[in-house]
Amino acid sequence: MTLPNSSAIDGSPDRPVRIGLLGCGTVGQAFVRTISGQGETIARASGRRLEIGPILVRDTSKPRDGIDLRQLTTDPQDVLRDPTVDLIVEVMGGVEPTGTYLRQALQAGLPVVTANKQLLSRHGAELLALAQSSGTELRFEASACAGIPVIKVLRESLLAAEIFAVTGIVNGTTNYILSEMSRGGMSYADALAQAQALGYAEADPSEDVGGADAAAKMAILASIAFHTNVHFDDVPFEGIDGLHGEDFDLAKDLGFVIKLLGVARLVDGGISVRVHPALVPESHRLAAVRGADNAVLLESGTVRQIMLVGPGAGGTETASAVLADVLSILGTAQGSFLQNALADAGRPLLSPDQTESAFYVRLRVVDRPGVLARIATVFANSGLSIRSVIQRGEGDGARLVLVTHMGSEARMNAALDAMRDMEEVRGEPVLLRLLAEEGA
Ligand SMILES: NC(=O)c1ccc[n+]([C@@H]2O[C@H](COP(=O)([O-])OP(=O)(O)OC[C@H]3O[C@@H](n4cnc5c(N)ncnc54)[C@H](OP(=O)(O)O)[C@@H]3O)[C@@H](O)[C@H]2O)c1
Repeated sequence: MTLPNSSAIDGSPDRPVRIGLLGCGTVGQAFVRTISGQGETIARASGRRLEIGPILVRDTSKPRDGIDLRQLTTDPQDVLRDPTVDLIVEVMGGVEPTGTYLRQALQAGLPVVTANKQLLSRHGAELLALAQSSGTELRFEASACAGIPVIKVLRESLLAAEIFAVTGIVNGTTNYILSEMSRGGMSYADALAQAQALGYAEADPSEDVGGADAAAKMAILASIAFHTNVHFDDVPFEGIDGLHGEDFDLAKDLGFVIKLLGVARLVDGGISVRVHPALVPESHRLAAVRGADNAVLLESGTVRQIMLVGPGAGGTETASAVLADVLSILGTAQGSFLQNALADAGRPLLSPDQTESAFYVRLRVVDRPGVLARIATVFANSGLSIRSVIQRGEGDGARLVLVTHMGSEARMNAALDAMRDMEEVRGEPVLLRLLAEEGA
């Protein structure tokens, strides 16, 4: 098969590599700025000059810094069918029509770089297979943790390292909010408003605070780490919007901080991937990751632990990852093994019921002799052992916090159901999971 465009990249070093851009918002404009600002460095390091060709946007009349308005178009075919374009950079976001555009580009043999977690976490396996069958490349470093080069590390440096756990703080907005709630005793609403004022949170923050953004990133990271296709729908997620200020104080008393974690683990040959708030021991490396930073802890049989920390968002930071992918494509021969990052190892995906955690349970109970013993019996009957208990009087009742040793989610759910049926228990029990040394 003739691949007219991809072969052009291997052409004369004197000819600039021409990039067709899909989208020119925060990341797209930062990408254009980076290419013009670092042109000499890029040319020296890669031996090639990069040039921006046609740019797809929705509205050509919007002012855009440093962009020649004649390059803008609202017709995707002006970019996808331009015979002078060597490579597509997609920074428009969304699942459709973006997926259709990328399929067309890949089918035509054009290499594609994308920052799109929504698309990759749903159609990554199919798009990678299409890239491979078309003899071209699809790269997506910026789709998870923006400026942190975690995908390249997993895909290349740690390809054979037998990764068994990926634990991440993969959403900067929620980490900023949780850091403020822990540090200053701020309410969730105030911390969110502050994050919005500082530009860390969108006007509509639901994707971030509800956990969907982190779930998309964890689907991508788990797929690469475990060589198995993990779809966004395979990742159960909980956000931080239901957390209460009192749990931050109680967690502190117990020696923990609360983080929104993505936890992907190999368990008996199966894969468990989840996103939920978790109690992290104050001494743990992830507890020290504060503000809008992201961090990913990779655990492997060969290299033990590697932690990558850095900016998880921002136009310039994300554009840096996009540019790194473009340069990797220039430096990588077509058809190499690196395109097999999502090759299916046939591992089963586990349901949340099969996964194990240690748990923190907060209850309001009537203040009556024997209540604690009855609650302890519920835990024992469900096969969960208790590690520590805090009991505090509160008006005519008491507040009980129990921290368990490791146990299955199914056992914990059985204990919760039994406690809901107890007349001594008031209201809904609050459940959080712990990041234990042996996993969350
Ligand atoms: N911003 C970050 O910090 C960050 C970090 C990591 C990953 N990402 C990812 O990077 C991608 C871009 O993010 P962004 O923040 O740069 O978004 P953005 O500022 O909203 O920019 C999106 C761009 O795409 C264009 N666009 C959107 N839908 C289009 C359509 N249907 N047809 C034509 N053009 C369309 C928009 O055109 P108009 O300008 O005309 O509206 C705009 O130029 C997303 O996938 C995002 O998840 C962003």
